[in-house]
Amino acid sequence: MTKTDIVILAAGKGTRMRSQLPKVLHKLAGKPMLTHVLDAANAMADAHKVVVTGHGAERVRATYPESAFTMVEQTEQLGTGHAVQSALGRLRDGAKVIILYGDVPLITPATISKMLNAVDEEHISLLTIELDDPSGYGRIIRDDHGEIEAIVEQKDANSDQLQVSEVNTGVMALTTELLRAWLPKIGNQNAQGEYYLTDLIAIARQAGYSIHGVQPISASEVEGINSRQQLAALERVYQLQLAEQLMASGTSLADPSRYDQRGTVIAGTDNFIDINCLFEGTVTIGSSVRIGPNCQITDSHIGDGVEIKANTVIEQSTIGDLAVLGPFARIRPGTQLGSNTKVGNFVETKKAIVGNGSKINHLSYVGDAELGENVNVGAGTITCNYDGVNKHKTEIGDNSFIGSNSTLIAPVSIGVDGFVAAGSTISSEVPAGHLSVGRAKQRNIPGWKRPTKKK
Ligand code: UD1
Ligand code: CA
Repeated sequence: MTKTDIVILAAGKGTRMRSQLPKVLHKLAGKPMLTHVLDAANAMADAHKVVVTGHGAERVRATYPESAFTMVEQTEQLGTGHAVQSALGRLRDGAKVIILYGDVPLITPATISKMLNAVDEEHISLLTIELDDPSGYGRIIRDDHGEIEAIVEQKDANSDQLQVSEVNTGVMALTTELLRAWLPKIGNQNAQGEYYLTDLIAIARQAGYSIHGVQPISASEVEGINSRQQLAALERVYQLQLAEQLMASGTSLADPSRYDQRGTVIAGTDNFIDINCLFEGTVTIGSSVRIGPNCQITDSHIGDGVEIKANTVIEQSTIGDLAVLGPFARIRPGTQLGSNTKVGNFVETKKAIVGNGSKINHLSYVGDAELGENVNVGAGTITCNYDGVNKHKTEIGDNSFIGSNSTLIAPVSIGVDGFVAAGSTISSEVPAGHLSVGRAKQRNIPGWKRPTKKK
C-alpha cells in the first residue's frame, strides 16, 4: 500500500479565538496553521489531501490554490466522526488514511510516517501521549496486556479513568476500507451528543483488530490551538526549536529566546546573531557573518563575512561578501551590494546595484541606480529617481566621487572617475574624469549690517 490519503479536520468555529478569521488560518511563525499541516502532509509520497471545512469554508478555499487539496464542506459540526464521514467519498480505494487536525500545526512528517508504517489491512494506529495534566483530553484505556482497548472522553469518563495520564491526540491511521466499514457504526449516545471519531477504537477492538499506539517525538507536535494565548505559547516553543536547529548548524545566537524566524533560514558556520532579529521568507546566510540587534531580514542572501549593524532592515536583496551595513540602514527590494561595500546609517537603497568596494556611508537615498566599483557617495546624496509619474535611472561610473548633499536628477549618468562638487544639483551627464559643480556661486558681501529689532 503506497497510496496515502490525509484527512485534515478544520470545520470548527474556533469560538475562543474571538475572530472573523477561520481558526486554521491564524498564523504560527508567519504561516497559517493549516499550511503547516499541509506542508507536513506534502512530505509524504503520493499524498492526497482532503480538508474538511465548515466555518469560513470559502475563506479557507480562497487562501490556497485549487490543487493544494480537495475540500469537503461539513455544514453542521456533529463531531469528529461525522467530520471524517463527510470526507469518505473522496478517499481512494486501498489507501492508508491518516486523520490530522488543522489546529494542531506542528505535527512532523516523521510522526506521520511512523503512524502510516504501523498500518496494514489488520492494524490501525493511534497517536497517544502521556501528559502531566491530562484534563480535557480523551483517556486511553488499556487492557491487562497493555493493549489499547478504548478512548473515553473526559466528559464520559469515571473517576478511575480520569486518573489515566495517557491521552488521545486525535491522530489515527487506518485503511480506507476499515474506515468505510466502521464509521457508520458510530453513534452519538454520549455526554456531548456528538459522533466521536474516537469510538472507532472500541469498534476495532470488538472486530478483533489490534491498535498500535505511536508516540510523537515531542509534545509540541500534538498541541492543539483554541485561543490566542495558546497560539502565542506554541509560537515560543516553535521559535525555540528553530533557534536550536540554527545553533546546531553552527550559528551562535546571543539569546535563543529572542530569535524569530518566519520562513526558512539556511546558514553557514561561525555566524553570530544578536538579540531581537527577525528573519522572514527565505534567507540564506554565508559564514562568519555578524548580525547586530534588532535587524529584520526578508527573502535575501547575505554573503560571507558580512557585518550588519543594529536596526538594519533588508528586503529581497543580495549582500556581497565582507559588506558592512548599518546601523539603521534600509535595504529595499532589488538592491545588490557588491563585496566590500559599505552602506551606513540612515541610508535607503532600492533597486540599486552597487559595485565592489563602493561606499554610501551616511544619510542618502540611492534608488533605481547602478554604481560601479569604488564609488564614494557623500552624506546626504539623493538620487531623484521619480518625476511624479515615472521612475528614472542614475548611473555612476567606477571611482567616481559624489560630494555631500548632491541631488542627482535622473535619468542621469556620471562617467568613470567623475567628481561632483558638494551641494550640486546634477541634471545632465557628467563626462568621465570631469569635475562638475552644479551650485550657485558663493558671494561675499562686505560690511553687511544685521537687521535691528523695531521699537
Ligand atoms: C478530540 C478527541 C479527544 C482528544 C482531543 C485532542 C474526539 C471525540 N475527541 O477532542 O479524544 O483528546 O481531540 O485534542 O475526537 N471538528 C470538525 N468537525 C466536527 C467536530 C470537530 O471538523 O464536527 C474538528 C475541530 O475543528 C477541531 C477538531 O476536529 O479541529 C477536534 O474537535 P473537538 O471537538 O475540539 O475535539 P476535542 O473535544 O478537542
Ligand atoms: Ca468537542
